[in-house]
Amino acid sequence: MSDVHVSFNLANDHFNDQEMFLPPAPLLAGAHVSGINAYHELYRNSINNTDEFWKTVASELYFERISNKGLEWNFDHKTGPIFCKFMDGSLTNISYNCLERNIKRGLGGKIAYLWEGNEPSDTSTITYQELLDQVINFSAVLRAHGVKKGDVVAIYMPMITELAVAMLACTRIGAMHSVVFAGFSAESLSARVTDAKCRVILTSDGFYRGAKAINLKEIVDKAVQIASADGVDVTSVIMVEHAKRVTIPEGARPINVGKLSSIYSSYESEMSRLKGTDSPVEWMEAESPLFLLYTSGSTGKPKGIQHTTAGYMCYAYLTTKCTFDADLQNDVYWCTADCGWITGHSYLLYGPLLNGLTGVFFEGVPTHPSPSRIWEITDKHHVTKLYTSPTAARALMAFGDSYLQSTSRNSLRIIGTVGEPINPSAWMWLYENVGNKHCSVVDTYWQTETGGHMITPLPGATPMKPGSATLPFFGVAPVLLDSDGRVIEGPGEGNLCFSRAWPGMMRGVYGDESRFVKTYFAPFNGYYFTGDGARRDEDGYLWMTGRVDDLMNVSGHLLSTAEIESALVAHLKVAEAAVVAAPHDIKGSFPYAFVTLNHGEKLTKELVAELKVLVRHKIGALAVPDIIQEAPGLPKTRSGKVTRRILRKIAEGCDTGLGDTTTLIDENVIKQLISGRNSKG
Ligand code: WT7
Repeated sequence: MSDVHVSFNLANDHFNDQEMFLPPAPLLAGAHVSGINAYHELYRNSINNTDEFWKTVASELYFERISNKGLEWNFDHKTGPIFCKFMDGSLTNISYNCLERNIKRGLGGKIAYLWEGNEPSDTSTITYQELLDQVINFSAVLRAHGVKKGDVVAIYMPMITELAVAMLACTRIGAMHSVVFAGFSAESLSARVTDAKCRVILTSDGFYRGAKAINLKEIVDKAVQIASADGVDVTSVIMVEHAKRVTIPEGARPINVGKLSSIYSSYESEMSRLKGTDSPVEWMEAESPLFLLYTSGSTGKPKGIQHTTAGYMCYAYLTTKCTFDADLQNDVYWCTADCGWITGHSYLLYGPLLNGLTGVFFEGVPTHPSPSRIWEITDKHHVTKLYTSPTAARALMAFGDSYLQSTSRNSLRIIGTVGEPINPSAWMWLYENVGNKHCSVVDTYWQTETGGHMITPLPGATPMKPGSATLPFFGVAPVLLDSDGRVIEGPGEGNLCFSRAWPGMMRGVYGDESRFVKTYFAPFNGYYFTGDGARRDEDGYLWMTGRVDDLMNVSGHLLSTAEIESALVAHLKVAEAAVVAAPHDIKGSFPYAFVTLNHGEKLTKELVAELKVLVRHKIGALAVPDIIQEAPGLPKTRSGKVTRRILRKIAEGCDTGLGDTTTLIDENVIKQLISGRNSKG
């Protein structure tokens, strides 16, 4: 896609703050939250009568036992430990709520997922009843492999319905799943396996992504080896034979897994071996851990974000219901995210199933076999709600509207985006060209840590402004703080924090209590700190301005600059590295690396290629820097701290306006870096 040129520039892509688009009338009419006054009233109620508000939400779900506890929390470390609890003492199970509860209300024969493979000829469907049967069956397999309540199971799988089965089977028996995106490298997988001491890995032989063959089994073998060297022995790998059964894309090589070692077993044979075995639901304490999901941390070591049962469940349920205006009768809902990210957890798996919806489950990529794929699937299944990323929107927009014109997309009602700021022209393209001006476009701001939407328009209520995530979700209290921690009232810009807990918030960093407090609560005592900057306009609308820490957002995925830097310095020829985010028309931003080489070394084409391979191996393709520039030295303060502020400016292409450089040890370094960048053209 690198040869695609787009005619807009993210940095200059600003619209008038005042320009508003009202929710289309048909959406307003039947919405769960209809009209902005209804939103304001419910919002006030969620803040003033928090427990009552959430009790009503919980009453729509099944609890085996209900306590009288509501939302309890403390964000002020001076008055005691930081914590959050929701419905403490209650018992429930999220997998039961997704499956049995819906089947009991007559949805057994309803399609849970319409699966679309990488190749358009590969499709299948699964009903709620079939999903439950497979979940019970697979939970018996997990139990037979020694998995019990409280264990962590690693899942490294392509986007196939067995992945949904695996996640729901874990939560059925109270085991935490830790899904690792199947684009991560063996080293990244093993780091996650080791951190949570996983004994069991669920995977598949491999899959095709576009025309590319990915042999997952090879990667798992390597990860198991590394984990074992680090003291964690994986005892079972359960492998779905998926690559074997699908259509091989034109030009791709077939995937061959070779010999399987004794820790391997086949998903299919284990399922038939234990078919019909009873495997009851494990009733879980409201606050017992539900799953782990690793996300980048600014120190470079990924954090295992820990969510809990009742709070996450109620939050995923209500946000899906309101933000996508869930319609049990008519919806075909499609979230294009991979289950390796939180969006796939909350809005492909749990949220839609809790709402009893039919969803599209897509294995492929938006551009294969052509950039019409998303619109073709939309028409084929009459998709009503589409949830995707600004990067996908920008990439498809860059291919031109001819790929849209062969489709009608008339079924669409709501288009959602997530993961990164959406620039107004991509927003307008979704609104006008994709949605034919009859859809609400919801720009949802949230994080792995928040479990669900925090700042988002509601499609039948909130007047939309292109590029703004608009107003807080129910129960959410955003606050902007200046660098001294003073609250900014009214219009202004600052650090985005939340002053109250919400049920779906993370409860900890796995195995590292102090990191939880240090990362999210120490920066501004009394508040949860997001790591993002935001601006509030005259109407009280919030506009995200990007990360204010050492994380960068590439195509909607968070990466740690420190993690990429440590991958680069692992090369024997590299003495030092500094990585910053530089603006990119499609990906939002990309990693730009400055490397200082050991004496006598030169940054040849071969070395650049070696460094890229190294980052790919240590982290994954996502993290590979688009540009690697040789730096004779890095700009440092007298105390030895690299000044990223200046490197960021250089990477952006600025020659002047670098700010105060007088505190640097060697101002000459900057001139060299600028001329080095310019000589790259
Ligand atoms: C970070 C969280 C939330 C699921 C996917 C990413 C950025 C997310 C938006 C948005 C502007 C956004 C923030 C946030 N972000 N959504 N609508 N507008 N920025 O989850 O990997 O935990 O990343 O993504 O920087 O902190 P994540």
